[in-house]
Amino acid sequence: MTTTSSKIVFTGITGLLGGYFLKTKKSGYGIIGIGNKNISQNNDNFFQIDITNKKQVLDFINKINPSVIIHAASIGNVDYCERNPDEAYKVNIEGTKNIINAAKKARAKIIFLSSNAVFDGNNPLYDEKALSSPIDIYGKTKKEGESLIKMSGLNFVILRLMTMYGWPQAGGRGNPVTWIIDKLKTGEKINVVSDIYNNHLWAGQAAEVIWEILKKDIKNETYNIAGMDCISRYDLALKVAKIFELDPSLITPVTSDFFKSIAKRPKNTCFNVSKMETQLGIKAVSIDEGLALMREESK
Ligand SMILES: NC(=O)c1ccc[n+]([C@@H]2O[C@H](COP(=O)([O-])OP(=O)(O)OC[C@H]3O[C@@H](n4cnc5c(N)ncnc54)[C@H](OP(=O)(O)O)[C@@H]3O)[C@@H](O)[C@H]2O)c1
Repeated sequence: MTTTSSKIVFTGITGLLGGYFLKTKKSGYGIIGIGNKNISQNNDNFFQIDITNKKQVLDFINKINPSVIIHAASIGNVDYCERNPDEAYKVNIEGTKNIINAAKKARAKIIFLSSNAVFDGNNPLYDEKALSSPIDIYGKTKKEGESLIKMSGLNFVILRLMTMYGWPQAGGRGNPVTWIIDKLKTGEKINVVSDIYNNHLWAGQAAEVIWEILKKDIKNETYNIAGMDCISRYDLALKVAKIFELDPSLITPVTSDFFKSIAKRPKNTCFNVSKMETQLGIKAVSIDEGLALMREESK
């Protein structure tokens, strides 16, 4: 078990997952957060570090000397990665190399956040042994990140997260659920794809998974982490309308070729979550439960 005096560095503390990791904090852990553009100047435990700066990362990790680094910082906007491949590679791959380099010096364990985007979406349900075959730049950077972590010689855990939903922190990026809520609240009509499937992940569940990994001190394992229900984006929108009491008649189903988005989306990357449920003892949260929890939080 990780000792109760464990010092944890969390990269990406200003992101969606970082927010829920802080909200679900367990006692006995010291969390030192790294962010970039959205870091708060009012928290003594949060620091502005650009993970693409090798020396800055190394000096910082040397000074903190953590036992665990949770590496969640990344560029996660799929279309942005497609339009800006150099920046995507710099942050998601060079940044990960810099974190690995520093983790080696500190002899820290690393928990790396990967994605359902490592799969092409043609052969669900994906378990941990399924072959990864990303179809976009973002997914390629995550696959490469996984390889770097596995080859690093460090104690590692790779968590492949399904598309998450929850309330972002100030300045943070939205997600499918906040997008639907924002549009329906203003009475805007929306077209939503009915042929892209995910078992959408409540960000609070993802955070609980990390705490369980820390508690059980798991090493050298990969987990596919997702919610319970494999549903289309259109069905998700209908559920959001129901739970947040918004108007479902504003939602029109369309097929994905309707959108001229830059990155092609994998059709169905739903995960088989039995390893998460049996080894970690974490039950996949249903979409109804997750949305109800999100609604509760906003009251
Ligand atoms: N959200 C999802 O649906 C999803 C699904 C699958 C996997 N994941 C993975 O899970 C992890 C967490 O996702 P998330 O949604 O919480 O992320 P997010 O909300 O997009 O936040 C990204 C984080 O990365 C930080 N960051 C970006 N560039 C940086 C740089 N050069 N130096 C230092 N920090 C930098 C950002 O800092 P600032 O905001 O301060 O600039 C922010 O804290 C990511 O690795 C993501 O790829 C997410």
